[in-house]
Amino acid sequence: MSVHNQTQRVTVPQLMACKGSQKIAALTAYIAPIARLLDESLDLILIGDSTAMVGYALPDTLSISVATMTGHAAAVVRATEHACVIVDMPFGSYQQSPAQAFANAASMVAGSGVAGVKLEGGVALSDTTRFLVDRGIPVLAHVGLMPQYMNVMGGFKAQGMDESAAQRILQDAQAQEAAGAFGVVLEGISEPLARRITEALKIPTIGIGASPQCDGQILVTEDILGLSGDRIPKFAYRFGDAGQVIREAAQQYAKAVREGTFPTLDQCFGVHPKK
Ligand code: KIV
Repeated sequence: MSVHNQTQRVTVPQLMACKGSQKIAALTAYIAPIARLLDESLDLILIGDSTAMVGYALPDTLSISVATMTGHAAAVVRATEHACVIVDMPFGSYQQSPAQAFANAASMVAGSGVAGVKLEGGVALSDTTRFLVDRGIPVLAHVGLMPQYMNVMGGFKAQGMDESAAQRILQDAQAQEAAGAFGVVLEGISEPLARRITEALKIPTIGIGASPQCDGQILVTEDILGLSGDRIPKFAYRFGDAGQVIREAAQQYAKAVREGTFPTLDQCFGVHPKK
């Protein structure tokens, strides 16, 4: 059966079983109203640390905290009943040691009800993934363009464009698979490399700026809804224009308030006799 049509919440093993049989449709969500609207259509919802940039207008993802991510994650879990929900581990919350990663991941899982965590890193973080998985915390790995490495990478640049760089990213993905990751997000890498990694791994790859051949796709929801301003990344596509809907509703509301046509007595208390 397709995980999409089932009534119970999608589990991590079910996402793994999608490899080769059904594509995984994933988006980010940070708040309950958006998560509630996305839930029925998706297999996986990620509380991405991109909320730092998208939701808090920060210049990068580096300063968001475990507490903030846990709060968003708990809201998304409460608002959903179908999609598997995974939270990003924030920068600085897992790189120091596997024990540090476990303490923070456990507090995020216990504090929000998510099914697992995502962390950025390949070979260097594979011991951490093994440590978490062996202690009951599913891990979605993230390799290629890793926004938490922006200061090392010199910005947000597509990765893996020459053979030696491509080899390193392939090894990162393989190391994460060997360490027990249940899937790998491939962000901002060359299309042939994304295809090659997808073919080489037994766990699903979830692409963002990667390849149509990935086992699933993820995007930032605000990018597909027209809520990210005028510019969206090359790898995104605007599937709807919620921005226009919100703008028009706000204009109509402001006009009605200024003209005195809202509120009417229908929105007031103690006016109409009880029926
Ligand atoms: O933070 C994020 O939103 C992500 C993505 C993969 C979209 O990591």
